Amino acid sequence: MERPDGQPDARLHVAIIMDGNGRWARARGLPRTAGHKFGVDALKRTVEGAAEAGVGKLTVFGFSTENWRRPRGEVSELMKLMKAYVESDLERLARDGVCVKIMGRRAGLAPDILDVIERAERRTAQNDAFTLQVAFNYGGQADITDAVRTLAQAVKAGRLDPDAITEDVVGMALSSRGDAPDLIIRTSGEHRLSNFLLWEAAYAEFVFQDVFWPDYGPKHLKTAIEEFRGRERRFGAVEASKRAAS
Ligand code: IPE
Ligand code: IPE
Ligand code: MG
Repeated sequence: MERPDGQPDARLHVAIIMDGNGRWARARGLPRTAGHKFGVDALKRTVEGAAEAGVGKLTVFGFSTENWRRPRGEVSELMKLMKAYVESDLERLARDGVCVKIMGRRAGLAPDILDVIERAERRTAQNDAFTLQVAFNYGGQADITDAVRTLAQAVKAGRLDPDAITEDVVGMALSSRGDAPDLIIRTSGEHRLSNFLLWEAAYAEFVFQDVFWPDYGPKHLKTAIEEFRGRERRFGAVEASKRAAS
């Protein structure tokens, strides 16, 4: 991560695919929507414990561009929960110095959802103690597609030279602004990206945890980060020890 003053930030950018709400509910004989409700509590706990675990930025997958394929009642419950979460927690997050960012397609969202998204971003824009980024109506392919369109329009208008299109330029056109996570966690035992952060995941480490999201909390996050700390990231180069020897 990079701090606003351009200095590298030792704190981690962690991204979480919060998965398993439906299975958590089914195991208890509850409707899937109950799983989503308890999932919001897990999110609150995890956000509260994240800074202490060494995280500076937390990106969570809240709703994918493919989640519209779910039953209408479930989609509307997920929309309601997003709105209720912002309404209940925005002031506290703002006072705690949290900067809230929402990534994903705005087109297609209802006006009341757009309103809370914009309110959350406006209210916390000046904060920099911690960043909570929520991927909502987000899909990696949709995000890259939108970025390509934006760049193509800039070329067409004569504002961008095709030869000036670098990885940084593409990254900046994404809704993440290219800020890549160090670690991607997926809960619930599934081992896939499901269209999350396709570009940004290039050199992320992955930790899969066999716990349904509504049961998740700071303890699980710390375990995932401990595992991450034991990894060696090479970014295509050779290990530091071998580099010194050659
Ligand atoms: C994750 O839990 C929450 C969202 C996708 C919004 P799921 O709803 O995917 O739960 P499972 O995977 O069906 O158990
Ligand atoms: C990914 O989970 C989306 C979110 C966590 C918001 P899904 O549960 O939708 O993914 P698939 O369908 O199992 O791949
Ligand atoms: Mg799922």
